[in-house]
Amino acid sequence: MLRPLSLLLLLLLSSALIVRVNSHQESGEWSCESDSESRIESEFRPGLITLDGHADDWKDIDGFEFPLLPALDPHEDHEYKGGKITVKALHDGHDVFFMLQVDGDYVYSKGNSKKCPSIALMFQIGEGASYHDMGGCTEGKDTCTNKTCKGHEVDIMHFSIGNAIPGRLYGGNPIDNRDGYGGDRFGHLVDLYAWTPHCRYLDGTGPSGNDTSAQNEWKGAWWHSSFSVHSGFVEEDSPYASGGQKGTYYFEFSRPLRTMDRLQQDAQFTLGGSSKMSVAFWYPLDGQPWHGSGHYSINCDWVPLDISSGISKMSVRGGSGNVSSAFALLLSVVSLCASAFVGYRLFKPNHAPFTPMENL
Ligand SMILES: *[C@@H]1O[C@H](CO)[C@@H](O)[C@H](O)[C@H]1NC(C)=O
Ligand SMILES: *[C@@H]1O[C@H](CO)[C@@H](O)[C@H](O)[C@H]1NC(C)=O
Repeated sequence: MLRPLSLLLLLLLSSALIVRVNSHQESGEWSCESDSESRIESEFRPGLITLDGHADDWKDIDGFEFPLLPALDPHEDHEYKGGKITVKALHDGHDVFFMLQVDGDYVYSKGNSKKCPSIALMFQIGEGASYHDMGGCTEGKDTCTNKTCKGHEVDIMHFSIGNAIPGRLYGGNPIDNRDGYGGDRFGHLVDLYAWTPHCRYLDGTGPSGNDTSAQNEWKGAWWHSSFSVHSGFVEEDSPYASGGQKGTYYFEFSRPLRTMDRLQQDAQFTLGGSSKMSVAFWYPLDGQPWHGSGHYSINCDWVPLDISSGISKMSVRGGSGNVSSAFALLLSVVSLCASAFVGYRLFKPNHAPFTPMENL
């Protein structure tokens, strides 16, 4: 009679132990059970996307769904309540495009970006740059430089919409790009780079001085499905819709695959190549402003971003390449037979006498 009881006790004890070990891991050492299957594919689809924040033109493009877990403590219990985020990507041979869709009740507070949702993309630049700690350089704020943190560079695009009119284009603009840095004074869609969360700079600026050769190459727009007007908002229309309405936020971005960066501050994309990226999302829960590190992330490690080349896509698609080449072979065999037959008819001894037309 005692044995099952003691077994139960042992079980309870050991499960309590496991829970304790788990919680210890979370608060101490960083642990990540990354979904190694997940990846984002950027197809070659020229002439499809208008950069306006609307998702209609993306409807035939496959999306990749990710749960949004707190970036600093990726625990399923604290997943973003609004649901998963859908990431879509494609390129036209020159620019890469992203569409991010996430459900969320409409909140907007003009001029206060921390009381509006916000979104960021992050890409690996240096080969040693980890997802965790935004590059993972071990230098502190006072000692991180492009020398001490070499190889840990990450590229970041951050869009804070508090001053951005929905449907309007923000990001790189002639005025900020003339100053040679990654800022955006109009809509705060900025181009940054980092080595750690504490060593984050606008492109062209840095701890060892500014270099005015940088540019903000990103462009983007946002939208929410509760808006009833489909074009032409101006600043006076803010907050553009009444708060609290259910719906979906849309964030749409583009950037040239290659940039003229000479400072190792931009990720460079290659046709047929693969890059590493992540997506961060901020949402003002219960109307409270979010803080910088309170963001959700699509994964606790890099997610591969495949930039498919136009050629490989055509031959890979559903094995139709094989079918069409077999058909081409059949066609060439048929035409060879036909030409042999014509040749035979031409050169075989002609028994039928030649009949001039006028004799018919
Ligand atoms: C570099 O540019 C930033 C942003 O414009 C500015 O705040 C900073 O003072 C500049 N640093 C130097 C050394 O000029
Ligand atoms: C570091 O940045 C400074 C300022 O932009 C630049 O002059 C210098 O060449 C850079 N050094 C390296 C090693 O990239």
